[in-house]
Amino acid sequence: MPESLHQQQSDHLQHLLNAYRSLMSQFNLDAIAIYSGHPSAHYADDQLANFQAYGHFVHWVPLVDAAHSWLVIHPDARPTLHLHAPADFWHQPTTLPEEPWVGEFEVVLCNDIQTPQLSQNSAWIGDAAALEQAGLAVPEGAANPHSLLLALDELRVIKSDYEISCIREANRLAMAGHQAAHAAFAGAASELDIQLAYLAASRQRESQLPYASIVGMNEHAGILHYQHYNAQTTHQRFSLLVDAGSRYRGYSADITRTHLGPDAPALFEALIDALHDLKDQLIEKAKPGQRFTALQEEMHQSLADILIHHDLYRGSAESAVSEGVTRAFCPHGLGHLLGIQVHDVAGLRTPAGEPAPAPSEHPALRLTRELEVGMVITIEPGLYFIPMLLAPLRQQSLPINWILVEQLTPCGGIRIEDNIVITENGHENLTP
Ligand code: GLY
Ligand code: MN
Ligand code: MN
Repeated sequence: MPESLHQQQSDHLQHLLNAYRSLMSQFNLDAIAIYSGHPSAHYADDQLANFQAYGHFVHWVPLVDAAHSWLVIHPDARPTLHLHAPADFWHQPTTLPEEPWVGEFEVVLCNDIQTPQLSQNSAWIGDAAALEQAGLAVPEGAANPHSLLLALDELRVIKSDYEISCIREANRLAMAGHQAAHAAFAGAASELDIQLAYLAASRQRESQLPYASIVGMNEHAGILHYQHYNAQTTHQRFSLLVDAGSRYRGYSADITRTHLGPDAPALFEALIDALHDLKDQLIEKAKPGQRFTALQEEMHQSLADILIHHDLYRGSAESAVSEGVTRAFCPHGLGHLLGIQVHDVAGLRTPAGEPAPAPSEHPALRLTRELEVGMVITIEPGLYFIPMLLAPLRQQSLPINWILVEQLTPCGGIRIEDNIVITENGHENLTP
């Protein structure tokens, strides 16, 4: 870990301490206790599900696998990290890394699973249902006070320099995986082998991913959250879509690339190029004050132009948007906030914590805010050939070139996704 990252982390922690202290004063609290969470067991089994510590815990403590642990923030003392470290010869004991951030916490290693002793006037944040199941109920009515949670979420919207450095590094790791995935596809690997190549090159095991990689060949590229990894190689290779990330010190990358297979029609290559250009065009507009919903609308205008330019649609651009044609070709949102969680908190709220839901014509949009310096977002335009969404358009006698649509359907679809930080001067692309 570079020296400058230590300093950035120290500044990040000081910023959090100041912000939490001012919230404790505002909400008249003696302490805020954050539970890291714990993994759930499969029903009637002794096997545990994958686990990642709660986002508000990871905001302070870069230990994404710290379970059964508590962080307590006080108004006038160092934060206390109650780290669960049982005496246990079945597992490797919990140890802390030799990094400077540890010195900013009062660390208490706990043998037992317990809740910290706090005054009545404290707030408890975390998975209250899991706590109750574990017999660790917190005082009645003290778990997850709504207004405090809104304020804590809001603190995660603007990233510190430390957080931006972590997301940049997560991007670097993920891009090594994407390059390996592309090479494996060129070597006619199966979806499963592409995923394994991705994991090896990005140096992570599957349970550490910020989300399950989407590795879809051919028509699977048109299944938005395709969840399988076909172990067989396919006879024909039209396309590969890889939407896969990585985590660094708890912070996520979320990158998508779509690759051309040797059996794809030439038009598919032209469409991949058009989507790369569209991604770059939209990134150029990312700057402080930009409404994200306006970028979503611009994506649809441009998708209409792309459909017309490539003879997939023979009507006007206005009608392609107003008749829902572009929405059938791209049913998801242009992007979302990115951070500890891949779909990070508070994308559908105003800075004051009021709900700001997606507009009815773009129900899948996860970000409706005005962009601000320090936000990290994804920009991920897509264009897909999804039979289930296109079928209803056939009944409407719209000027869609169904012959071309049928030629392209075996290619599934295209998505190109980069991670962008908003800066004073506009933006910086964190995806190499
Ligand atoms: N990987 C999920 C998404 O792009 O939002
Ligand atoms: Mn995304
Ligand atoms: Mn993605």
